[in-house]
Amino acid sequence: MKKIAFLVGLMCATSIFAADGETLFKVCATCHGAKAEKSALNKSQVIAGWDAAKITAALNGYKDGTYGGPLKGTMAPQVKNLDANAIATLAKYIEGLK
Ligand code: HEC
Repeated sequence: MKKIAFLVGLMCATSIFAADGETLFKVCATCHGAKAEKSALNKSQVIAGWDAAKITAALNGYKDGTYGGPLKGTMAPQVKNLDANAIATLAKYIEGLK
């Protein structure tokens, strides 16, 4: 019994730390659209259709200040707390949006 409780606890903890792409993208969707089909704030490029490598490069660039247009200040706080793992998960998720 104890062992089962432990396993269930472990599974819950895992799902919190390893958030899936859909969960991570929820906040992004408020600007980019549920399918990444919108131009965020009418300023960004439409990122639907971008491959994971391009998305990863853009997100890392916003993070370290080497990428972006006039509104990069809007994106910087969005990516600030994303680690490499979360960025990879997001990039894959966005790439797969149809
Ligand atoms: C508050 C609105 C907002 C939110 C939330 C937001 N973005 Fe953005 N995003 C923008 C804007 C505006 C730009 C264009 C910024 C610029 O001038 O470079 C942009 C640009 C981008 C780009 C590059 C597109 C380009 O035009 O070069 C990617 C990729 C991207 N966002 C992904 C994301 C992801 C992933 C998230 C969630 C973690 C997110 N965004 C959350 C507003 C937002």
